[in-house]
Formats: sequence, structure tokens, C-alpha cells
Amino acid sequence: MANVTVIGAQWGDEGKGKIVDWLSERADVVARFQGGHNAGHTLVVGEKVYKLSLLPSGIVRGTLSVIGNGVVLDPWHFRDEVAKLKGQGVDINPANLQIAETCPLILPFHRDLDGLREDASGAGKIGTTRRGIGPAYEDKVGRRAIRVCDLAHLDDLDLQIDRLTAHHEALRAGFNEKPIDRAQLMADLTEIAAFILPFVKPVWLTLNKAKAAGQRILFEGAQGTLLDIDHGTYPFVTSSNTVAGTAASGTGLGPNAAGFVLGIVKAYTTRVGSGPFPSEQENDIGQRLGERGHEFGTVTGRKRRCGWFDAVLVRQSVAVSGVTGIALTKLDVLDGFEELQICVGYKIGDQTFDYLPAHAQDQAKAEPIYESIDGWSDTTAGARSWADLPAQAIKYIRRIEELIGCPVTLVSTSPERDDTILVRDPFAD
Ligand code: IMP
Repeated sequence: MANVTVIGAQWGDEGKGKIVDWLSERADVVARFQGGHNAGHTLVVGEKVYKLSLLPSGIVRGTLSVIGNGVVLDPWHFRDEVAKLKGQGVDINPANLQIAETCPLILPFHRDLDGLREDASGAGKIGTTRRGIGPAYEDKVGRRAIRVCDLAHLDDLDLQIDRLTAHHEALRAGFNEKPIDRAQLMADLTEIAAFILPFVKPVWLTLNKAKAAGQRILFEGAQGTLLDIDHGTYPFVTSSNTVAGTAASGTGLGPNAAGFVLGIVKAYTTRVGSGPFPSEQENDIGQRLGERGHEFGTVTGRKRRCGWFDAVLVRQSVAVSGVTGIALTKLDVLDGFEELQICVGYKIGDQTFDYLPAHAQDQAKAEPIYESIDGWSDTTAGARSWADLPAQAIKYIRRIEELIGCPVTLVSTSPERDDTILVRDPFAD
């Protein structure tokens, strides 16, 4: 049976929530494989709106949901998000939600450090979500993290806590921050362990058994490929690998498990936080895209930067994530524009590029080369078949397919789940 991996193919906020929700109804298991509660996935189910940051979207429909080892877990946030969803009537229990034993924990001093660094960075700040994501991944790679499985062995954690706190004390001293209250940390961990431990399982085993039984696994990516720590616009990226390949390493399944890779792509471009954005429109056009597209961050409420569709970046994402097909979202936001621009290359100094070079200075200097295409005056909102779309909108989609070298698998035309034009069922492959 086919699996599906959903990833963002731009800078996040492409509208993954709706697509994942639609697919999760037909999946047997939904797995998160990277990131943490920096993500913001909005699901509209009937009259209800669910906002998820850490939990896999499948949980809303009661599908077995797993948090893979590639995720960094803030246990207190986990408890709050579970409580919030339960308050909305969602059934959550250790039978339908599992956490990998090897997830590193995000602790209060990770959040402190994230904020302290951002505040001290002036113009160089990354514009993180300040949720401690980067510092927690640093400790994982530095081999000093406290992991979820350690919550069952708190009496045996002295040496590990020594190493971890020694590292952070030095950093905090540099910021004139007070030392970590170790007794308080142990008390907090002891208290939260009782809540977390019932959910903790060898997730790699659950998933391998599901795979062996021919069940459908949906891998739910967070953020987007251009925020990938290796392939994104470094250093203005998140601290995890967001590409589709991480579905395997971030859950404990082999690389052949990813199945159909569905790249979610907005019909224009947005970005939250700092960093290069060649096709950004800091003018009436950007303003209009932001207003029509309700472009405010789910997690931080920040206004998103908006610009024209950048075919160069999406083509690059399609390549590095091995995207099989794309889901094009928010096409209706472009309704009524007389003319649309698509970025098809960059000029940097006197050189032209058909990809984004790696160096931050080059990225900052990249001037977009645009191709114009006529817009359409009719609405595409709520379209459910090609016949419902204006001819010019179809032309825009076809041109995008050509430029990015990847077919459109579905088009989403409103937040409503049924307002979707399905070209090919990713699970049917
Ligand atoms: P961090 O992941 O909190 O460290 O933030 C690093 C960068 O990734 C910042 O530019 C954030 O705005 C961006 N970012 C993190 N999570 C998301 C997301 O879910 N959507 C869009 N941008 C995100």
C-alpha cells in the first residue's frame, strides 16, 4: 500500500493543514518527523477550527498519530495542546497518540536562550518563533540532550544534567542571566513525566509493523523546504531538515517508506521572519496578497511577507525533496489581478542564475527576472473541477507546472475541504 509524505515546498505556511487533514481521513497512521511546536497547522472540520502546533493532524479525526524521533518535544506544551484539543471534544489517549522514546526535550532554558539570542542579534536576527527549537536541536547534536525516555529514569540523570546545565550556565552567564534552578528543573520534570510517559512507545516499531501490515502511513512535514537547515536560505532557516527524506530518519523507517511526495505550494510566495526573498513585494501588491490571503502567522501572529510566485525556488524544492506532485493552494487570492508575475530566474551582479546560489550575500542581492502572464477577473474560490476555473487561471497553473518540472496533483480553492480539484489521488499510487 502506498504511503504519502506531505512537505511544504516554500517557506512554510503553504496550507498543509487542509491537505493533511483531507489525506489523514484515509491514512491508518499519521506521523510527524521533524520540527516541534514552531509549526502552525490550521484544520477546518465542519464548523470547528483546530490549531495544532505539535500534535500530528490525524489526531483530530482519531487516526493513530505518532510523534517521531526527529521532533523536538516541549512536554509542557504537549500537555497544554492535548488539553486544548480535548476541550474541543477531540478524543486523545495513549492508544491513538504515541511519542518516540528518543525525542529530545525542549526545556525552559532552551526557550530562554532562543529569546536572548534573538534580542541580542539586532539586524542579524533570524526572527525565530522563540520556542527553543534551535537550542534544543543544538543539544541533541551536541549529545547532551535530555530525551523523552530519560523521563522514566530521572533518578539516574545526574551526570547528564551536569553536562547539560554546565553548557547552558556558560551561555547564560554571557547574557547575565541567573543560573538554572536545578531543584526546580528536577521537580518540573518529575511532575511532567507522569503525564508524558503513558504516550511513550518505540514509535519506529509501531511504524515498521504498520508498514509490514500494508497500512497507509501519512508523513506530515512542518515548515518548508526553503527553511531546511541544509537546503534552505541559511542562516535564515529552522534547525531541522524539512525535506521529504527526513520522513525516514525522523521516524525510524527506511528511505523507501516515503511513498508519494506531495509538495504543498502556494500560488504566490510568503515568508515569516528575516532572510532573503527575491520576489517580495513591499508595496500595494504585497499588501493586497497579505490581506486577501489572511497572511498572519498561526504561531506568532506575525504579519507574513508576501510576493509573486517564485518558480526557481519551487523547482529547487521539487528537486531536493524528490516531489512527485504538488498541491497548489490559495489560487483564489490571485483573483482579480490584471497581470501576474512569475519569477523565472535571478540576476546577481552581471550573472544570471536559474537556481538560488548558496551564499547569503548572493541570495540577498538576487534580483528576480520575471515573466508576465495575464490574470483573470472571475473568481476561482470554491472551484471543484477544471471546468469551474477561468481559462487564464488554468494557463497560470500549466505554466507553473512547466517551470517547476512537476505536475499538479490537486488544487485547493478555499479552506473548505471539498473545495478541491483532484487530479490524481496520492494514496492510489
Ligand atoms: P524557529 O524554527 O523557531 O527556530 O524559526 C526559524 C525560522 O523558521 C524563522 O524564520 C521562523 O519564522 C521560521 N518558521 C518556523 N516555523 C515555521 C512555520 O511553521 N511556518 C513558517 N515559518 C516558520
